[in-house]
Amino acid sequence: MIGLLTIAVAVVQLYIASQQRERDLFLANETRVKDLEITEKNHQQALFLANEQTKDTILNDYLDFLAGFLEKHTDKSSNLNWAAISSIVEFKTFAVLDQLDGKRKSHIIKALYNARLIQSDNWFFVSLAYANLTEVELGHA
Ligand SMILES: *[C@@H]1O[C@H](CO)[C@@H](O)[C@H](O)[C@H]1NC(C)=O
Ligand SMILES: *[C@@H]1O[C@H](CO)[C@@H](O)[C@H](O)[C@H]1NC(C)=O
Repeated sequence: MIGLLTIAVAVVQLYIASQQRERDLFLANETRVKDLEITEKNHQQALFLANEQTKDTILNDYLDFLAGFLEKHTDKSSNLNWAAISSIVEFKTFAVLDQLDGKRKSHIIKALYNARLIQSDNWFFVSLAYANLTEVELGHA
C-alpha cells in the first residue's frame, strides 16, 4: 500500500514538474518573442531615424549649394553660359527632389521660389517641368 502511494506521489510530482517545465519553456519563449519584437522595433526606429537624417543632410546640402550658387552668381553681367549653369542647377534639383519626401520637397520649392529662381520672368530661370513633385504641398505657403 505504502509502495503504491509512493509511486502515485512520484507520478504526481513528475507530472507537476513536467507542467512546470512546460510553463517555464512557454514563458521563456514569450520573453524571447517579446525581446525579438523589441529588437525589431528598435531596428525599424533606427532605420527610420537614419533615413530622416539622410534626408535632412540632402536637404541641407542642397540649400547650402543654392546659397553658395546665389552668392557666386548674382552678377548677371558676367559672361557665363547661363543655359549650362541653369541645367546644372536643374539636374541637381531634380536629383535631390527624387530623394526627398513631400515636406522637404516643399521646403526646396519655397527656397527656389523665394530666390526667384523658378519665376519665368526672371533673368535666371530654373525649370521644374521634369522635377519629381510627387507629395509636394504648397497649400500653406
Ligand atoms: C513561441 O511563441 C510564438 C508566438 O507566441 C509561437 O509562434 C512559437 O511557435 C513559439 N515557439 C515555441 C518553440 O514554442
Ligand atoms: C518621386 O518622389 C517620391 C517621393 O515623393 C519617391 O517615392 C519616388 O521614388 C520619386 N520618383 C522617382 C522616379 O525617383
